[in-house]
Amino acid sequence: MKPKKQDIKISLSLLEIDYGELNAQLERFAPLADWFHVDVMDGNFVPNLSVGLPVVRAMKTKVPLDCHLMINHPDQYIEPFAKAGATSITIHAEASTHLKRDIQLIQKAGCKAGVAINPETPVSKIAAILPLVDMILIMSVHPGFGGQTFSPTVLDKVAWIRSRYPKLSIQIDGGINDKTAPLAVQAGATILAAGSYITQSDNPEVAFRKLTKAVAFL
Ligand code: DX5
Ligand code: ZN
Repeated sequence: MKPKKQDIKISLSLLEIDYGELNAQLERFAPLADWFHVDVMDGNFVPNLSVGLPVVRAMKTKVPLDCHLMINHPDQYIEPFAKAGATSITIHAEASTHLKRDIQLIQKAGCKAGVAINPETPVSKIAAILPLVDMILIMSVHPGFGGQTFSPTVLDKVAWIRSRYPKLSIQIDGGINDKTAPLAVQAGATILAAGSYITQSDNPEVAFRKLTKAVAFL
């Protein structure tokens, strides 16, 4: 069963915004986002550092905060991120030592639980937890940096999950633009994590419209 147009959401990645004027940027981008996608990197699970708890705490917005934790020992940070204001918390299957327990920790903390897998991680790694999660995140680039090129080989994983779980939220993250988003949606993705295509555009409104129009074929 293919997702319907009204099911598609844009989770706007804030990785490359100007954090010197955080809340002004959130206000500026709020009309272009169903959710804000907050990329948390530890310089260990991924070869880059980004923002953490104090920044999430400082965010003043009504847009739901979709926190993507690219960190080792995610269990230690679930409750703090929930308290900081996360609406959903996505952890990496490669980084969690007790995936089922960590999913439950996220849900007990009052957040939607997401599990992410890197491009080289097979879907078999998460098959057992699919009935437990609120969302799966399929990385379409190697995590760590914005502005990379979308890898279409991950689409088979999206289609595999979609064929078995018609209603599950499937997020795709990395290299999303008006050309790659339709491929992801056709395979079954419902949440588009889009960063540089919108935030680094000369005209973010035009980029946003192009992106939403590109997936309006459903
Ligand atoms: C990459 C992050 C992504 C990234 C997306 O590690 O998880 O969310 O910011 O950025 P773009 O859309 O530029 O690929
Ligand atoms: Zn992300």
